[in-house]
Amino acid sequence: MCGIVGYIGDKKAINILLNGLSALEYRGYDSAGISIICNNAIETVKTKGKIIDLASLIIDKHTDLNGKTGIGHTRWATHGAPNTINAHPHFTKRVSVVHNGIIENYRELEELLNKKGITRKTGTDTEIIALLLDYYLKNSTPKEAFITTIKLLRGSFAIAALFKDTNTLMLAKNESPLVIGVGENENFIASDISALIQYTQQFIFLEDGDLAFIEKGKVEIEDSSLNPVKREIKTIHWSAESAKKGGYKHFMLKEIAEEAQAVRNTIQSRIDEKGNIFLQEEINLDEDLLKTLDSVTVVACGTSYYAGLCAKQILEKFTGVAVKVEIASEFRYSYPVFSKNNLFIAISQSGETADTKESLRFAQNSGLTTLSIVNVKESAIARMADSCIYTLAGPEISVASTKAFVSQLAVLYMLAFYIGKLKGKDVTKETKTLLSVPNIMQTVFEKTDELVKHIAKSYHSYKNFLYLGRGLMYPIALEGALKLKEISYIHAEGYPAGEMKHGPIALIEENTPSVVISPDFEPFYSKTMSNMEEIKARNGRIVMLSDKKSDIADSFIELEKIDYNFTPFVYVIPLQLFAYYIALYLGHDIDQPRNLAKSVTVE
Ligand code: AGP
Repeated sequence: MCGIVGYIGDKKAINILLNGLSALEYRGYDSAGISIICNNAIETVKTKGKIIDLASLIIDKHTDLNGKTGIGHTRWATHGAPNTINAHPHFTKRVSVVHNGIIENYRELEELLNKKGITRKTGTDTEIIALLLDYYLKNSTPKEAFITTIKLLRGSFAIAALFKDTNTLMLAKNESPLVIGVGENENFIASDISALIQYTQQFIFLEDGDLAFIEKGKVEIEDSSLNPVKREIKTIHWSAESAKKGGYKHFMLKEIAEEAQAVRNTIQSRIDEKGNIFLQEEINLDEDLLKTLDSVTVVACGTSYYAGLCAKQILEKFTGVAVKVEIASEFRYSYPVFSKNNLFIAISQSGETADTKESLRFAQNSGLTTLSIVNVKESAIARMADSCIYTLAGPEISVASTKAFVSQLAVLYMLAFYIGKLKGKDVTKETKTLLSVPNIMQTVFEKTDELVKHIAKSYHSYKNFLYLGRGLMYPIALEGALKLKEISYIHAEGYPAGEMKHGPIALIEENTPSVVISPDFEPFYSKTMSNMEEIKARNGRIVMLSDKKSDIADSFIELEKIDYNFTPFVYVIPLQLFAYYIALYLGHDIDQPRNLAKSVTVE
């Protein structure tokens, strides 16, 4: 939700800001802007629309932005409509501010300003920060004004401020991410490292409550009590290429194509051909707790939640431990009962999702042992939990999550086998099978891509879809339906195939096709065939995914035969492709679908 960048150094800031904003556009893309110090004045350009619109505006009207210090922002509106006036930065003659998050007490602060005759001109909470800074600048130094202002704020924020009269960028972080990229005689800031990996591999991740004061050759950080603190400089080796499209039309297709490799990267240093699992160091939790574990609570949102639903079946099967999977936005307001030896698992690609983060906090306050499964290094959820296992999917840029999902499955499967082993189960065969999964996934992608594209063409004009599956294919049906909704804006519902007769069958007619996901395993296959007969009897069209063809299907996507336990890794691929190609035929903005953002940092 909103991306921030900043630069201070000897290079022209504008290109660095625009590049960084393009990389962060997945975080929000309804308006954008930059402020740069040029000839002792703050020059600001902002517009409704995307970074490309901002860049065109700059090329057309602001060719003289030569300054070497600047900040930029790409927005996902929370307070105030997505238009030019509400776009960030918010500025006065003396100061300019970009902000990611929500200032909860902005109305209270506005009243304070109003009493001094200062009024807001935009619909945003962020403008209040700029107005407060400007007000305090009248009688204090920029640093004093910054500290005074930040101390008044309540809520979540990552803030970067640029001042006319000092060559220091000032930052504040609370709950929203902010990272400093350390260069040679130059420094960068961003909401996440994907905006900076083309410039540096050295990063300082600010902690909640931190204030930072950045010059081109200096970074000073103070904690919430204003004591100077040193935060470690971490080296991160994400390649700049991994955050580019690499010849694909969209990030989403590239990321689907990378799924096999993402799973390979996630498992290869953690299991071996003999079936050994090397997770202890990363998990770093009391082995006795894991041996005596009697329940697991998994909490996540969206696609990550569906990964949890798949994993529930695997965890229960291979550990014998009861697993509950909860939607994070509901969990934190519920009254959960935990057993004595519970493990709480939070799953999140971004590591920033507010609902998941707050659920994790809730679990910690309830005294639970917590583990997170996260893709973005050093993100809040990764750092908060007692331990974290990273999915090694690399940067996922497309808003629709694909390779993160299969990587989350990979971690959850390893975890199930690891705990199962500690509990005395023989999981050698399954652990070894997991090693063979990436090659099968690769074959599936290569074999189904063209076929799915062809099939999608004849289905792209329908307005409603049902996705049906049983067992492990039920969460995969949910995920397939979510993908279609997100990027094609077609209504789609995932259902357990056996539940169809209890209601959704009323929807079936010639204009409501069903996507039936049914690998050839009993008792599921024959029962699902009966469901397909019921659909056909009501003139419904069927797209079937299976390793065993049924003549009832109108379209058939043949998949590799694979051990039932591992079918989610394989069956999700053609569903992601199906959503992708339908959205492509409909001409939608696939990587940045309407109303969505990649990291949902508001509740
Ligand atoms: C997935 O395609 C979605 N964009 C969304 O449901 C996402 O999975 C959800 O917001 C959770 O995000 P997280 O994994 O970063 O926590």
